[in-house]
Amino acid sequence: MPTPPPSPPVYWDYLSLPGLLAQQDGLDGNPSPDELHFIIVHQAFELWFKLVLSQLRLARNHLAAERLPEEQVPFVVHHLGRVNVILRHCVDQFAVMETLPPQDFLAFRDKLTPASGFQSFQLREVEILLGLKTEDRVALGGVKPEAHIQSVGAASKFDAFARLQATQAEVTLRDALNAWLARTPIQGSSVGDPGDADVVNGFIADYLAQVKAHGDQTLAGLVRALGESERARMEPRIRQGLDETQKFLVVDDPVLRRARAGLLFIESYRELPLLAWPRLLIDTVVELEEQMLLFRNRHARMVERVIGRRIGTGGSSGVEYLDKTTAYRTFPELWTVRSALLPRAMLPALQHREKYGVS
Ligand code: HEM
Repeated sequence: MPTPPPSPPVYWDYLSLPGLLAQQDGLDGNPSPDELHFIIVHQAFELWFKLVLSQLRLARNHLAAERLPEEQVPFVVHHLGRVNVILRHCVDQFAVMETLPPQDFLAFRDKLTPASGFQSFQLREVEILLGLKTEDRVALGGVKPEAHIQSVGAASKFDAFARLQATQAEVTLRDALNAWLARTPIQGSSVGDPGDADVVNGFIADYLAQVKAHGDQTLAGLVRALGESERARMEPRIRQGLDETQKFLVVDDPVLRRARAGLLFIESYRELPLLAWPRLLIDTVVELEEQMLLFRNRHARMVERVIGRRIGTGGSSGVEYLDKTTAYRTFPELWTVRSALLPRAMLPALQHREKYGVS
């Protein structure tokens, strides 16, 4: 007997809606309308985090490959671009949470203590995957988030800490990006070419000489405009800029040195046809970090509006703790390089233009 054709899918089955919609009952099965609002908004965020994680992993997998062919860079940009749109959407979504007046939140807040977004293992996974290190995190009452999740996990059947550990074993987007940047052709020279280290060091030396010349020009302009008396005040600041650029570019680790020089090269000669996608990739990662910071800041402002300066259900100082997390920078090089850039007219002369798609 032939098997009957499979029945066509029904919308609610395809999306597992009966199961999904039965998950908003809270701890006692009887949430008030405000608590239902609170639960749904959090769940919606967690669903977005799930998608962010999958997109980050796809982008990271491409980027972490030993060789990333030119035509695959758009895929990385595509996945990270989607993450950025989701994060922007999440930032806006805090406005929905904010419709919860402080007193209405107080009506059920004690029920959830000590549960807190501090235990959002998915957001921790996002941070870990991006490259945020445990030692760079703000501690909550002396305890870092990973250790906190490990200690509260004993009270749950779900092993969130195991998920964090598995994510910690993965290659981070930051490391994958740096490894890729370290392979940037610099002044036409690629890793493995004879004399590559000399070309890279030569580019760094030429660049630093131009930073010095630009600093001298800037100082002369300031003295002309503001008077000789300003020289003593301005000169140390300009010299500090040069010192910082030198510290950034002249590092012992040859891979890191090449990665930073590569980043500077892409940012400096960004109009070259073959650098168009690499430059877009860097811009997309900068936007990603910016969106993460906007997310942290928007969450903190929403929290301030709903609970003022109270301590959090997770036991932190609340807004004070959250504001400290807005200092996180997972891709510090992408920010530092901005202070090192020069006007186009002052860049070292480009060599081997033909290797960057210019005839
Ligand atoms: C009335 C609504 C909310 C309040 C009052 C609130 C309050 C807080 C507070 C005070 C903290 C610091 C840890 C603690 O002591 O508990 C925190 C952390 C956190 N919350 Fe919220 N939150 C709210 C809504 C949300 C929503 C909708 C999300 C979205 C998922 C969220 C995600 C997080 C995350 C991820 C953290 C950890 C931040 C970090 O450690 O970097 N929160 N929240």
